[in-house]
Amino acid sequence: MKANIKCIIPKCGFEDNIHSEITKCPKCGNLLDVVYSNQDASSFTELFKLRKNNPQGIFDKSGVWRFRELLPFPLTEDNPFSVLVSLDGKEGQTFPFRLTEVAKYVGVDKDNFYLQFEGDNPTGSFKDNGMAAAFTHAKIMGKNKVVCASTGNTSASMAAFSANELGKMDAIVFVGNEKIAIGKLAQSLEYGARVIQINGDFDDAMKKVLEIGKEESLYLMNSVNPFRLEGQKTIMYRVLEGLGWRAPDWIVVPGGNLGNSSAFGKALYELRELGIIERIPRIAVINAEGANTFDRIVNKEGVKWNNGNVDFERIEGFYRKMDEENRKAKTICSAIEINRPVNLTKALRTIEWSNGVVRSVSDEEALDAKAIVGRNGFGCEPASATAIAGIRRLVKEGIIKKDEVVVGILTGHQLKDPVATINYHKNKSNRFANIPIEVENDLEEIKKAIKKHKAPSKKTEYLSSSE
Ligand code: F0G
Repeated sequence: MKANIKCIIPKCGFEDNIHSEITKCPKCGNLLDVVYSNQDASSFTELFKLRKNNPQGIFDKSGVWRFRELLPFPLTEDNPFSVLVSLDGKEGQTFPFRLTEVAKYVGVDKDNFYLQFEGDNPTGSFKDNGMAAAFTHAKIMGKNKVVCASTGNTSASMAAFSANELGKMDAIVFVGNEKIAIGKLAQSLEYGARVIQINGDFDDAMKKVLEIGKEESLYLMNSVNPFRLEGQKTIMYRVLEGLGWRAPDWIVVPGGNLGNSSAFGKALYELRELGIIERIPRIAVINAEGANTFDRIVNKEGVKWNNGNVDFERIEGFYRKMDEENRKAKTICSAIEINRPVNLTKALRTIEWSNGVVRSVSDEEALDAKAIVGRNGFGCEPASATAIAGIRRLVKEGIIKKDEVVVGILTGHQLKDPVATINYHKNKSNRFANIPIEVENDLEEIKKAIKKHKAPSKKTEYLSSSE
């Protein structure tokens, strides 16, 4: 088995071994993939099942390393298990399940509608999948200092994985001042990372990290690192495993830095190449309206992957105009408040490979959708709910059909951003607000109040045919 890093642009052809920390092609400046030599995958799904049902240790338990034949870069080392990194096998314990109320809300048959709750990861977001792989690579490289820019979840996850290395790994995170949800900031502080709050937003922080990373020889943990995306491929493996390795019609995912969109496209393409699935599901990437670079680049600028012949001048022109207009990302979905997604080119590739679509949803649509996920007894953070609002929109547009099999990815936990949730429910003009009931400390008054206020879960007005 051979693993290499390779430029994503086919005509460039740059390739090197995995003992490298570069995140950009030295020849043409584009993004890099981790690529593998051909494998016989005929027994893989049986092997994964066996490990799931009868795990022999934490790497069989891990929802990432259980699939290690599909991200085999560490297996090329002399002693693979000594380099694998895991939070005691707890990352990636997620699978697709049905949520009836959400299915009704988006307008898809409840038997065909699934959500995968990546908020169930140890640090409360999908990032733990990617960190398991990226920390493994950092360890192969002998690094002991890691860095990232973050809207909060990458930093929380990186800080936790560093802490788990018991003093052997130093974490430095860059965040925009007041740009990250409090739950996420709390995590990074508690896990003992050095938190650098800069005056600016994620895009500013990302720029600084790319500059400082080179100078200080820090290992970069953002999704521009191709090894992180190898870990995020496993989100798709668990979806498919949950569906008996039958491809759904749609995968719907929020788009911020476009790491997931990129990783999902690669995962599905590789699975088809290996003969594990027959076709690639369509991928819908959902931006927030206030941070909709990908939507604009695809739908307004008409930029395509075009088999690697991307119109980079058009993208540059788009960014130049954005700078001239001093346009900053602005959305309540703070996790995806990003105007310069680092994985844009890979995500264009995903759209082509999967015959995918890109849409944007408003903050209001995202928060209403989030409230419905909560009604179903789960909950997610605002950015995650863009996937739900996006499905709803695509159903209304007639692009997603009612009877198609749809899987939405809920990327982060409800408790990451309690402020957004409370503000929503305190404001009665919000569609699914659940206003706290203020009552005198008096039994009679309390009884009256309970009679007067109906239980919010009975409000099913979103089912009305007038929509
Ligand atoms: N959802 C959540 C909860 C996120 O934290 C992020 C990204 C996304 C969606 C977007 O995913 O970047 O793969 O398109 N959060 C990053 C961070 C940027 O720093 O935590 P993407």
